[in-house]
Amino acid sequence: MHIHRSEKIWLISGVVALVVFLGIIGFAAIADGIVPPSHIETIDPTKVAQTPPFDHPGLRRTGPNTVEAYVVAHIFSFTPGLMKIPLGTKVTFYATSPDVVHGFFITGTAVNMMVVPGWVSSATHTFTKRGNYLLLCNEYCGTGHQYMYGTIVVR
Ligand code: CUA
Repeated sequence: MHIHRSEKIWLISGVVALVVFLGIIGFAAIADGIVPPSHIETIDPTKVAQTPPFDHPGLRRTGPNTVEAYVVAHIFSFTPGLMKIPLGTKVTFYATSPDVVHGFFITGTAVNMMVVPGWVSSATHTFTKRGNYLLLCNEYCGTGHQYMYGTIVVR
């Protein structure tokens, strides 16, 4: 089979680019210790319901304007499904999953993380606008994925 010279060059550059990119990802994963967007905190996914603070998911006030939110993402809902937050509060979300990979995306904010079983993912946001914010699962997690959401009410 005859392959045109330009096509060979194109194919070889494609393969070289692929190998280089995979190499960089592999190297970075090992050398830089790439992990899910988290507090570098792990949890036994089979014992989430027994492990504090995830045994009692919800909001914890840590200061006059700071709150920690512990959220369990599971098929196919978030616990708690409704969070009421005073305007101007800086919220640090901690999320984990006892089953499969879920998403944790709050519309209108930069909070967008994967929730991976075995890990505690963390992100912080200060809510400076009143309103209802949708918390969405944006990782396909099964047949009820499209029903998986929560609400954050900022007043
Ligand atoms: Cu959980 Cu999609």
